[in-house]
Amino acid sequence: MPHTPAADDSAATASTATPATATDSTATESTASPQNPTAPTAAQTPQGADQTDRVIMAAAEEAGIGCPCDVIVVDDATGALTDFALAAVAEHEDAKVLSWTSSTVLAATLAERFATPLAAGRLLLPVGPQPVELGAAAARVEGHQMVLMRLPKSLHALEDRARRLAEAVRGRGDGGLELIAGGRVKHMTRSQNDVLAKLFTEVRASRGIGKSRALIGTGLREQTAGPTPTESTTRIVVRGQQRSLSLRGVGTVFGGSGADAGSLLLLSSLDQAVAAGELATEESPVRSAADLGCGNGLMTSYLAAALPEASVLGSDEDADAVASTRATLAANDLEREDIELVWDDAFSQVADRSLDLVLLNPPFHDGTAIDATLVDGLLDAASRVLRPGGQLWFVHNSHLRYRTEVERRVGPVRQRARDRRFTVLSAERV
Ligand SMILES: C[S@@+](CC[C@H](N)C(=O)[O-])C[C@H]1O[C@@H](n2cnc3c(N)ncnc32)[C@H](O)[C@@H]1O
Repeated sequence: MPHTPAADDSAATASTATPATATDSTATESTASPQNPTAPTAAQTPQGADQTDRVIMAAAEEAGIGCPCDVIVVDDATGALTDFALAAVAEHEDAKVLSWTSSTVLAATLAERFATPLAAGRLLLPVGPQPVELGAAAARVEGHQMVLMRLPKSLHALEDRARRLAEAVRGRGDGGLELIAGGRVKHMTRSQNDVLAKLFTEVRASRGIGKSRALIGTGLREQTAGPTPTESTTRIVVRGQQRSLSLRGVGTVFGGSGADAGSLLLLSSLDQAVAAGELATEESPVRSAADLGCGNGLMTSYLAAALPEASVLGSDEDADAVASTRATLAANDLEREDIELVWDDAFSQVADRSLDLVLLNPPFHDGTAIDATLVDGLLDAASRVLRPGGQLWFVHNSHLRYRTEVERRVGPVRQRARDRRFTVLSAERV
């Protein structure tokens, strides 16, 4: 495989409430990407505490953080909650903080910022290249636990996070769980209370700070089911034959278990090239193929099915995407030894000029704004890892213009498909 793993995955020894209502109209808060709404994108770095952090910290203080008990922080976009949790447990020699995030970029940033408590074993912070699932990480801390987190955008993601934490605590049988999940009032719904009420006997809302508020779940219910990914079925064509593919969505993965229409267009034009013998020739075989930003595994699964002789790499910045792709491959009996899935930012661990084929359906938005830098960095990454003569297959929204950019960064471009919404380009690496 072209991919060269780096450091190990160890947890870096290195009564239902009334829905929240807005109480004032001051501060603004930074937006996050639709792929992973709670985490910053590669272009962002953690800054000071925002209003949602402050509401979570205030609720934690009221609830008596630092009891002594271990504290779990989930998707700490600014680093402020990890900082706060470390300070809260500072006087208790054995207490630990677990800061878990699904974003590898954020994990690396937090690991750098909190290098000292990390080295001292006070802070546990899972880093790549293999994601440590939230429940497995939470099982490594002890006693009664307080969890500080932001409310994810999707209810499924909230339920997934809460169920993983509940399972870990119950599995150890040595303590309880108190969950404090903050968010912007405008994004909060009664359904979030209902989700938490499936797991906690009491769910209430904190007082608001500015436009943020927290939901607090206490009293873990005895018998609750574990997390289950969402599921959907789509159809793809593999070497000219229709095939049904069952997709799985874990946590905050982009698009859940839905089939992305842009990816489907890319795959149908790619399959025409594969079936016509145009993609892999005797002089230029495809021995290694990769899906950059594998999401729920739709395109990785195609590669696994259509190119049985090639090694396949599925890579994503989001741990939930890696888990989703793994679950999708398993659900379709497409697992094999030379398929590797990694938690990695922009192919950072893939050797230069080592791949024959890269598929890319990149994120185009940071929050609601179009952010070209997200795409440019991924195009550069694809270009770097392709061998000369290797191909990039890329899909973008038709109202955006990318041909010149792809040509400049990779090599000569052909338009392979275009409809009202999406355009598929292929580029040959010079
Ligand atoms: C538009 S989604 C496409 C997902 C999937 N390939 C599909 O076809 O449905 C883009 C994916 O890129 C991932 N991503 C974003 N930035 C990334 C980065 N710097 N490195 C690796 N993956 C990234 C996101 O987490 C997301 O899963």
